[in-house]
Amino acid sequence: MLADLEARLARFQRLGLAHLPTPLEPMKRLSAHLGGPRLWVKREDCTGVGLGGNKLRKLDYVLHDALASGADTLVSGGVVQSNSQRQVAAAAARLGLDCHLAVYHGRVAPPNAAYETSGNALLNRLFGATLHDVPWTGDRNGAIRDLAHRLTETGRKPYVIPYGVSNPLGAVAYATTVVEIARQSAALDFVPSAIVHCSGSAATQSGLAVGAAHALPDTRVVGIDIDAEPERVHADVIAYAKGAADLLDLPFDPACTEVVAGHAGPAYGIAHEATIEAIKLAGRLEALALDPVYSGKGLAGMIALIHAGRWPADSDLVYIHTGGTPSLFAYGDSLGL
Ligand SMILES: Cc1ncc(COP(=O)(O)O)c(C=O)c1O
Repeated sequence: MLADLEARLARFQRLGLAHLPTPLEPMKRLSAHLGGPRLWVKREDCTGVGLGGNKLRKLDYVLHDALASGADTLVSGGVVQSNSQRQVAAAAARLGLDCHLAVYHGRVAPPNAAYETSGNALLNRLFGATLHDVPWTGDRNGAIRDLAHRLTETGRKPYVIPYGVSNPLGAVAYATTVVEIARQSAALDFVPSAIVHCSGSAATQSGLAVGAAHALPDTRVVGIDIDAEPERVHADVIAYAKGAADLLDLPFDPACTEVVAGHAGPAYGIAHEATIEAIKLAGRLEALALDPVYSGKGLAGMIALIHAGRWPADSDLVYIHTGGTPSLFAYGDSLGL
């Protein structure tokens, strides 16, 4: 079924912006520390452009569509330390497109002064994006659409990239990760029992779930809710997965989607003790730089599931490092480092 998934994915065009395939590496010291299972890390933080991250894989396909539409301006948005909008800004710079971002304030209480100016906020400016401060209302795409509307009225040809680059095409893009993991794990002589990662705007998990159901049927995709909204995340995972399966002409069974609650801490964007501990372990044992909002919470969730005995010690798990490293600097001393 792997070749069939590849053939279906080949119907979609990508720009070739992201550095792919990303490496799949063993985490021997973390595995030994936890007493098994064998742990592997898929380095989606190494997708290249503008310090990388999982959104570039989605943008590779979504921006092909943007260029085909004749757009001259990319419009997106996210919170102050959004990795997604930083990757949109980076891609726009590479493509010579203007970039306007709706920067949501109020979803997260800033942990310190650096939050507003450092990390992704600094990189957005470095990459030349125009930033528009807007209040967080809970409608993730509302201000992005309003901004695009205003730009159209001034004669621009904007292309709207949804919050988190999450839509059915973004999910199709993420199914390519399954092809890479299937090939890389076969070459390393293992079949993953699970692929574990953090889930937020959801299309990362949707693509993984649709791809794995077809090409890695013995591998369970486990999303760790980091938004403290597990029902909303799960509903979105199902919606984008259904959309992606339709685009790929594949059947879709919602049973292939699993969102685990209970590891997001008190709220989105607040690093709690288990996350800080996971970030420190990954740094000290594997030289990985995880972030407190996404990848750190994802690893904290996976460690909790391992401690709860979810997988036997002789199984193999793939943890996806989805990126987010720049926000590590914005959280600074709130991590006690
Ligand atoms: C570093 C990082 N990891 C994971 C995610 C979650 O991916 P998705 O939004 O597709 O669920 C995000 C989304 O913003 C992210 O920035």
